[in-house]
Amino acid sequence: MLASRCEGHVEPPEFYRGREQTYLKHYFLENYLARLVWNVGSFRDEFVYFDGFAGPWRSESDDFEDTSPVIAIRKLTELRRGLAEKGKQLRVRCIFVESDPKTYPDLQRAVQIADEISVETMNCTFTEALPAVLPTLGRAFTLTFIDPTGWTGFPLRVLTPLLQRRSGEVLINFMFDFINRFIDAPQPELEKSLNDLFGGPGWRVLLERPDREDAILDFYRERVRAAGSLRYVTATRIKKPEQDRAYFHLVYVTGHPKGLVEFRKVEQQAAEEEEKARLHREQENRIRSTGTGELFTVEQTMEGGFRSYGAERAARLAQAREWLRGALKNRASIPWDEALPSILEIPMVWDKDVKALVKGEQEAGRLSIRGLKAKERVPKLGQGHVLVARHMDADP
Ligand SMILES: C[S@@+](CC[C@H](N)C(=O)[O-])C[C@H]1O[C@@H](n2cnc3c(N)ncnc32)[C@H](O)[C@@H]1O
Repeated sequence: MLASRCEGHVEPPEFYRGREQTYLKHYFLENYLARLVWNVGSFRDEFVYFDGFAGPWRSESDDFEDTSPVIAIRKLTELRRGLAEKGKQLRVRCIFVESDPKTYPDLQRAVQIADEISVETMNCTFTEALPAVLPTLGRAFTLTFIDPTGWTGFPLRVLTPLLQRRSGEVLINFMFDFINRFIDAPQPELEKSLNDLFGGPGWRVLLERPDREDAILDFYRERVRAAGSLRYVTATRIKKPEQDRAYFHLVYVTGHPKGLVEFRKVEQQAAEEEEKARLHREQENRIRSTGTGELFTVEQTMEGGFRSYGAERAARLAQAREWLRGALKNRASIPWDEALPSILEIPMVWDKDVKALVKGEQEAGRLSIRGLKAKERVPKLGQGHVLVARHMDADP
């Protein structure tokens, strides 16, 4: 996979001290782009990266190296080259939109690093840009990145034509912490702006729910799914620096099961990065207060597995098991191409977990797999494999 062979362009975590959430967002963007474009190169001849809220924003680098436009241009250039070496000619086009006229000249300067890929900039709002951009996309596979500073500027009714386009994916920074702080306020303008975000009312009842964060996010996911023709909508959480709660969620919309597999792989890598950054911080604090070094490095400590995600992963894996058992209770069989992406919509559940789950259920006699060839053990996408229910009511 190219993702692992290519060098990263995101500045190291130390560079982002105090804004680790931005590091993780950039890490996620770069690594997901690598996986996506490498796949797209095998079935399309044009890829468009459409960044609707480009910035640059709060950069601490003279060359804007710590901003998403520069990270994306560097990565896409490298990917285009890598594909060309394999004999695949992928045209790459980037469109960057920035509404603030004071920031726009910086954007124009930042994108000058592009030479091998086409880059366009627009000084207008995303809402103004989208109707102009959509007709130019043709059959190109498009990743749209929506990275706002709040929750306005991308009402669901504006996003709808984009979500109805099958040849693409959308990544939205859902600013949960910010939304959560204002969502209880009764002011009518606020109510209207949240109605715009969610595509109508209906969200107020969620505010009393004990699982408020999941409830709000699931509500948004379902609205986004219903608005478009892209079937899968999931999210991954990015925590506040030095705190164990969400800063934002990256909401990911795709029509492709393989997209979910890749998204969750990057989530796993990003979770490791997050854990590593936290352990480094804790170790530095300990060394500072005791004045003595430590025997084990952070990397050695991590060999024992995830600490911060243990309980959450266990709960999510239980949710996955419940989904599978429930689905096979209601239906005699489920195609793998439907089961895998449906389970991978659950955050923190990874491809290997789903395979282990299916193996366990198979060994317990609860399901069998139809369509495997002689030497195949695990189901694969696109092969017509089917999970078939067996003795489901024999077990609790
Ligand atoms: C969070 S920053 C983007 C950061 C950038 N994606 C990164 O990671 O480096 C959001 C940017 O969107 C711009 N912006 C705000 N509202 C906008 C709108 N309605 N349309 C387009 N850009 C907007 C802001 O001026 C700001 O520069």
